Amino acid sequence: MSKHKFYLTTPLYYVNDKPHLGTAYATINADVLSRYHRLFGHEVKFLTGTDEHGQKVQQTAVKNGREPQAHCDELSLVFKNAWTELEVQFDIFFRTTDSFHKKTVQSVLQELYDKGDIYSDTYEGWYAISEEIFYTEKDLVNGKSPNGNDVVNIKEKNYFFKMSKYQKQLIDHIEKNPNFIQPENRRNETLGFLRQPLGDLCISRPKTRLSWGIEIPFDHDYVTYVWFDALLNYAVAVGLKQQGREEEFKTWWQEAGAYHMIGKDILITHTVYWPTMLMAIGVNLPKMIFATGWLLNKDSEKMSKSRGSVMDPKEMIKLVGIEPLRYFLVREFRLGQDGPASHELIINRVNTDLANNIGNLLSRTTNLIDKFFSGKAPAGPNTKDASITHDTSTAALIELSTHTPQKVYECVQAFSLSEAIEHVMNLLTETNRYLEEKAPWKMAKTNLPEAGSTLYVALEVLRISASLLLPVMPNKMTSLLCTIGVCEFKAAKTANPNWHDIGTWGFIKPGTPIKKAEPLFPRAEGTP
Ligand code: MSP
Repeated sequence: MSKHKFYLTTPLYYVNDKPHLGTAYATINADVLSRYHRLFGHEVKFLTGTDEHGQKVQQTAVKNGREPQAHCDELSLVFKNAWTELEVQFDIFFRTTDSFHKKTVQSVLQELYDKGDIYSDTYEGWYAISEEIFYTEKDLVNGKSPNGNDVVNIKEKNYFFKMSKYQKQLIDHIEKNPNFIQPENRRNETLGFLRQPLGDLCISRPKTRLSWGIEIPFDHDYVTYVWFDALLNYAVAVGLKQQGREEEFKTWWQEAGAYHMIGKDILITHTVYWPTMLMAIGVNLPKMIFATGWLLNKDSEKMSKSRGSVMDPKEMIKLVGIEPLRYFLVREFRLGQDGPASHELIINRVNTDLANNIGNLLSRTTNLIDKFFSGKAPAGPNTKDASITHDTSTAALIELSTHTPQKVYECVQAFSLSEAIEHVMNLLTETNRYLEEKAPWKMAKTNLPEAGSTLYVALEVLRISASLLLPVMPNKMTSLLCTIGVCEFKAAKTANPNWHDIGTWGFIKPGTPIKKAEPLFPRAEGTP
């Protein structure tokens, strides 16, 4: 049987700015989601990349005295390196200036023009450069875009895509597919937007105003509007309208279907522009568009360079390390909601969950096994062991442990990553409490097998928890697993243990060598 396929995308980031903690938040959450699917045994394609055309990027290049392409090459690499350092395991790093993309965008434009879905007309309205979005007079709020950004007046001949033609079909699709737009409030926002008559979409910019774009094949005085170009990347990346890639496109786009994780600021471009474009080309719509909330700065505003204070991921890495930072960005926030980031929150989260909870359980357990069992896993209860029915706290903990993988699985399906991790943390907290209650350090002196049994329970919890946290902290959790003798998957050069084995109680065989753990998560202190 072929493996289940999962195709996940992040937005393509504008190269007018280097990555900051807000863009790292978006990318890391998507990375963790895609790593969970790998852990479940699915075949994953995970795409991220850079959006390199448009006025915003052109202006930045000019300001820095650079040719746009040279500027893009440099910044795109900065993004790629930053994600690599943050252990983002992308399969595709897409760049909109790649020639195969430009060629495909042009062929889509030509096809829609030939079909009569693109026409020319005079455009009169307003343009927000920082958003790369066209607005009409009635959209403006106090002379600014609805998001509070500056706009410039434009009156010129342009090309339009007949978006209005697909309004009804789009509403029907959203109504018939409740999961198409998530979370629910974003679905309602889109339906609200679609209650007004939908205009056509201006999809060109005259070269006299903007030269940095993909030339329109049927009018060499124009380039494509940046969103038309950028949105297509998701389908172009898996073979849209490219000779020799038909099978790949069928497998990944038409059958598996894409999951787009985006920020709520780019909802309408993804839930209205993009699906209507796909309808016009005659291919399937994505399976799901999930809009995340924003990481806020200390003034409770969206963390973005243009709005002032941003946090630099490099500084945060210095403060707590790469994987604890990943942990914070996934655990601290509910994915669909906004939330603030600060040094204090990062330090607290890392110390409470990593140093005090998982770190503490690991060092206690391995130290005691070292001391009383010569560094060998003691024998412990198994699920069928009748005696455990008399020991309710052990039975309850085994039950909680073996059910946690399924809970994590369900949360991940719903994009509830923070809740998934919360289940694991809850299991670890319960186990630390269990050790307090059983006090194997005392029991070892009077009833060694009983103390061993307690420690074996802790070992199995550590194995299950570390396996379930691999997508968040791949290196630290791999080394934790090796410390407790679970190294086969690493030796076999696979990134993950077998999903089915994770929730199978009794995986660690008594007698397995257990190392005394080095502190995995030193306490974080102070400011960088
Ligand atoms: N280039 C377009 C997207 C084209 S997709 C075909 C764009 N780029 S962007 O760089 O301005 O922002 C992209 C995304 O970065 C946002 O939608 C959001 O997902 C993410 N974020 C940027 N700042 C963020 C926060 N402060 N918090 C959460 N996400 C952040 O729009």
